[in-house]
Amino acid sequence: MSVTLSTLKAMRERGEKIAVLTCYDASFARVLDAAGVDVLLVGDSLGMVIQGHASTLPVKLAEMTYHTRCVAAGTERAFIVADLPFGSYQPSPERAFAAAARLMAAGAHMVKLEGGAVMVETVAFLTRRGIPVCAHVGLLPQSVNQLGGYRVQGREDAAAAQLVADARALEAAGAGLIVLEMVPAALAKAVTTALTIPTIGIGAGADCAGQVLVLYDLLGLYPRAPKFSKNFLAGTDSIEAATRAYVAAVKDGSFPAAEHAF
Ligand code: KIV
Ligand code: NA
Repeated sequence: MSVTLSTLKAMRERGEKIAVLTCYDASFARVLDAAGVDVLLVGDSLGMVIQGHASTLPVKLAEMTYHTRCVAAGTERAFIVADLPFGSYQPSPERAFAAAARLMAAGAHMVKLEGGAVMVETVAFLTRRGIPVCAHVGLLPQSVNQLGGYRVQGREDAAAAQLVADARALEAAGAGLIVLEMVPAALAKAVTTALTIPTIGIGAGADCAGQVLVLYDLLGLYPRAPKFSKNFLAGTDSIEAATRAYVAAVKDGSFPAAEHAF
């Protein structure tokens, strides 16, 4: 049975953790899908791990569309989320819809965009017109130049309160999932409790409804892997075994451990 947004919401309701990995091509999609990954994220992290750029900013919509089509071709069960790349959705809800429609036509089941209150109108515009949206708050890699680096977000009380308010507003606007990136574990827990939609954490502690990792960090392939990631290939003898170990660790709550959180 294919994973749908309803499946993911039911998983959160019964307390089953959602295992998410990034994926960029059909061969990996086949392995990850068979290993029980619930959601494949065609992340704009491909700008760093596939294209070798220092950030996600150079990634083009045509490139996201191409990789989404590749992943969809190798997937039977998993739910596919594709990132709207930098510049493709910020100017207006109409521009966002046009870009999202291309990702959906390429095989995505949902699109993801970065931003809090400023994206509420766009989330409502897309979801009312039939395109599911995953919001993304906390560290926003597309805003790295504004943020001054890849740093933990929401450490101060005012910023933490703003993040909770943003998450509530995004849910009310129709977001179906929300990624929490590099926020203190206690704040991620507070956001998760405040919402009914599943929260997907990365560098956000163990109390989210699910977890996501960049595939190439899980495989130990990326030289600048962040502190919150873990090499699951070490100690196993295949990519499928490493993926199964990751899925099992997410489901039983052993990943992320305290050393992967802030
Ligand atoms: O692009 C990506 O890989 C992401 C995850 C880090 C959530 O957005
Ligand atoms: Na991304």
